[in-house]
Amino acid sequence: TPDDPYVIGMSQCNLGEPWRAQMNDDIRKAAEKHPNLKVIFKDAQNDSLVQRSQLEEFVNQGVDVVLISPKEAAPLTEPVAKAFHGGIPVIVLDRALLKEEYTSFIGADNVKIGREAGKWVAETLGGKGNIVELKGLMTSVPGQDRHRGFLEGLDLKAHPGIKIVFEADMQWLEPNARKEMESALARQPKVDVVYAHNDPGAHGAYLAAKQVGREKQMKFVGIDALPQEGVQYVKEGILSVTFQYPTGGAEAVDMALKVLAGETVPKKVTLATKVFTHDNAAAGGQAIP
Ligand code: FRU
Repeated sequence: TPDDPYVIGMSQCNLGEPWRAQMNDDIRKAAEKHPNLKVIFKDAQNDSLVQRSQLEEFVNQGVDVVLISPKEAAPLTEPVAKAFHGGIPVIVLDRALLKEEYTSFIGADNVKIGREAGKWVAETLGGKGNIVELKGLMTSVPGQDRHRGFLEGLDLKAHPGIKIVFEADMQWLEPNARKEMESALARQPKVDVVYAHNDPGAHGAYLAAKQVGREKQMKFVGIDALPQEGVQYVKEGILSVTFQYPTGGAEAVDMALKVLAGETVPKKVTLATKVFTHDNAAAGGQAIP
């Protein structure tokens, strides 16, 4: 009841990133429709140890459901398992863990997104060119999967003229991507495509290239496709393409309600993705089956 609401504890790994602010907004908006729900938001500020203790606080507090979008897989697998085995339903969002000891995982298929990016790059390069890859945090599963999928889609064996000439871990952060791109540009006279594992990374790379007057010599590929971020960059011609990575926030609230009602929920929910290019961005992108 509204007087005695169910309490959802939501641990967000780094609210400072726009995509994560969007996820929290999606959760807030979905929860507002249900007067019997109260959400407590915590921001781990990009620190896995802080996130671990937030999880423990939620458990000690006795929240009814935990939502978590974990920073890194290894440090958060056990605390999540412990909460779950202690009887608290845990819904994991976006970044996978090392074990499936939780109620459910909601997220898009990062291998597939990486593969689509790789196919797009191979086609656009027409079999020849130099790539810079700016990776997301490689201790998080989306970074690993977006890299693996990219290599699959790129198919370097079939395209011997394509080379990844520089790769670095920018840990999902735009300032890091910009610095890494400065190094890449200093070392590589010819860069044709930058594949960044998220739109902030692609934008940071663009700014580095623009600073030295080289931004028109290369194409920038990103992931996330927030309307006010990646899609806007595509419309402005800053990025050539971005792939949508839905937050899953609304889906998580719907699932929490089902769990609270005693319904069984799937162990894994895979969210759909879309591609946004200059040609289709105004029309809302194109679904990838
Ligand atoms: C935000 C973010 C997104 C990315 C996701 C991967 O922290 O870096 O840009 O798509 O996390 O988990």
